[in-house]
Amino acid sequence: MGRNKSRLVVLSGAGISAESGLGTFRDKGGLWDQYDINEVATPEAWERNPELVLDFYNKRRELVIKAEPNPAHLALAELEKHYDVNIVTQNIDDLHERAGSKNILHLHGEILKAQCSYDPTEVIDINGAHLKLGDLSSNGYQLRPHVVWFGEPVPLMFDAEKIVSEADIFVVVGTSLNVYPAANLLYTCKKFCKKYIVDLNELSNVKFNNLTQFQGKATERVPELVDELIKNPIIPTTL
Ligand code: APR
Repeated sequence: MGRNKSRLVVLSGAGISAESGLGTFRDKGGLWDQYDINEVATPEAWERNPELVLDFYNKRRELVIKAEPNPAHLALAELEKHYDVNIVTQNIDDLHERAGSKNILHLHGEILKAQCSYDPTEVIDINGAHLKLGDLSSNGYQLRPHVVWFGEPVPLMFDAEKIVSEADIFVVVGTSLNVYPAANLLYTCKKFCKKYIVDLNELSNVKFNNLTQFQGKATERVPELVDELIKNPIIPTTL
């Protein structure tokens, strides 16, 4: 009995949330122009100055709470009526959730959650609260942002690879594909998987068969791509 819906996997990055007012990392004036990664987003930074790290994520958490999903997030949620959709996001915001997408995997963590600084499997919801020194986990260790820092393992990478390896359609939205292992996902999908890339810039470093680029703003081009995928449904591959 064949599947009745094609498997569509989305890999999203900061560019999908840019028009919701959340800064990207590597665009001009982006977060990594404003902050030194080594001061706020590494385990060494946490050891050296936890308050600076907590403050960096408290500020970003406030912005996430104030932000709203945009037409790109909403269009991807709409796709679930027509395709078996999985969202693999590098973003730590909850805009895909608030747009109504159901199957979301956060490769780099979730800013509205905290984890025990000793036992990373102990994760709690903090929603919009500020994390402060002295906020402790149930076993008495300092709580830290539930975010994957540079140099740390990406615990959900295997799950993400499995999801992408089964995709019939792979849609990449708003990521510079600069950060590994996440960027490797582009090489994980099946050869005949239909690939789409939505980005403000022409991603020239990406040469693939079966790849269509939708250059432009996510809020304009993602709804266009979704309309096309709904009007001309891609049938599941039987392989
Ligand atoms: N519409 C579409 N694409 C956009 C828009 C927009 N409005 N604005 C920016 N972009 C694109 C940029 O052209 C770029 O390709 O989004 C991408 C943003 O790239 P980065 O800032 O590098 O963000 P991202 O790829 O998500 O970074 C990956 O790096 O710092 C770490 O953990 C962090 O998850 C993050 C990871």
